[in-house]
Amino acid sequence: MNKLIKNGMIVTDSEVFQGDLLIEGELIKAIGTNLPDESAEVIDATGKYVIPGGVDVHTHMDLQAGKYRAVDDFYDGTVAAACGGTTTIVDHMAFGPVGCSLWHQVEEYHRLADGKAVVDYGFHGVIQHVNESILKEMGEIARKEGITSFKVYTTYNLKLNDDAIYQVMKQAKEDGIVIAVHCENDGVIEHLKKAYVEKGCTQPKYHPLSRPARCEAEAVDRLLHIASMAGDAPLYIVHLSSKEGILEVMKARAAHQKNFAVETCTQYLALTDEMYEDDIEGFKAILSPPLRKEEDIEAMWQALQDNVLDTIGTDHCPFHFTTKKQAGANDFTACPNGAPGVEERVLVVFSEGVQKGRITLPQMVKYLCTNPSRMYGIYPQKGTLLPGSDADVVILDPNKERTLTHGDMHGASDYTCYEGMKVKGDIDLVLLRGNVIVKDNEFLGKKGDGKYLKRHKSVLAEA
Ligand code: URP
Ligand code: ZN
Ligand code: ZN
Repeated sequence: MNKLIKNGMIVTDSEVFQGDLLIEGELIKAIGTNLPDESAEVIDATGKYVIPGGVDVHTHMDLQAGKYRAVDDFYDGTVAAACGGTTTIVDHMAFGPVGCSLWHQVEEYHRLADGKAVVDYGFHGVIQHVNESILKEMGEIARKEGITSFKVYTTYNLKLNDDAIYQVMKQAKEDGIVIAVHCENDGVIEHLKKAYVEKGCTQPKYHPLSRPARCEAEAVDRLLHIASMAGDAPLYIVHLSSKEGILEVMKARAAHQKNFAVETCTQYLALTDEMYEDDIEGFKAILSPPLRKEEDIEAMWQALQDNVLDTIGTDHCPFHFTTKKQAGANDFTACPNGAPGVEERVLVVFSEGVQKGRITLPQMVKYLCTNPSRMYGIYPQKGTLLPGSDADVVILDPNKERTLTHGDMHGASDYTCYEGMKVKGDIDLVLLRGNVIVKDNEFLGKKGDGKYLKRHKSVLAEA
């Protein structure tokens, strides 16, 4: 039976208008005013916003990180995503065994996600060493699997040096692939971590001190230059956290550098490094880059308002606080890095961003839905409300109020970093390809109903 969402305020990345949205099967059939409702199930959206299902292109489901495994597998994590208004994820693969082929993790991730995911999903590949066959595999995987983006790290154990990154970028430019990069200066971080631990400074408050904003800024600047030297290779900077990082991005924008995009994440828009002051609770927020200061948050919102940044992701990567995070109890450097966030993103950005007048509703849709889809080759199937697009729709009530608390969350983690945060706005209904999968914070979908997305070329790879 068709569905007709009536009288809502329909929001796209460019406009807001009162109207109706007709769904036929899995697709949006029409958008307009006074659409006829014969033979359709009517959903009244009067006084509500009707937005595209969220697209989070930075999650780490079931991530094996050294000794630790993230606690959300593709079922728990995507149930959390769905309940938070996100109907598509593009997940970052973990590193595979040292020396493995790129196919190793592609096969592993199909095993992890197939039959479990409840929202639609794709994968970013990961490059952990470079040689001729790895460079060849990039294009093969893009063509055969629709994995049209790969990630490299400038820090952590399996980081790449500048020589390897340059080779990857050159290849990516040739194959029309996006390279996503975690940008932090590894040398300085490793030096500072060691120095703090040697002095007995092992509490969480030393985590941000060991990863200063300048480490991010330096790596952002370096990567922008490397991408430019590689022929304006498509570059996507993940999880930008600092005012210093924004300045580097603005410099590249002012120089009209082509083919790059920049993501920030919910935590860098709402949480500060005050979370590290508590010697116990502070471990909850051990993630990299670390949380910054109020002035960084304001700079980040300003950059979003000014369209300097492109997307908002989450870097969702939860570990249990009561068990796994305690590995850092005597040494913050031993604490697994990462925190939950996929469920909180839409509500926090709506409440902190739109309701507080820092960004507009179309900007919110651009950052949470449309741009992530464009950057990663799934637009207009995902991230927009257009006839022919998948009927992934969220109905959001701007007048409801809610206090975020772990008890109301759906992931497997035992905490939320946003505990006690009051948000203005709540999600009434979430549809994935025309089916209601969440109603009033209750998950109604089915394990395994999420479909694998073979992605196309990014807009960053078109020029
Ligand atoms: O602390 C984080 N962000 N963990 C996940 C891996 C990454 O750096 O994206
Ligand atoms: Zn990262
Ligand atoms: Zn990440």
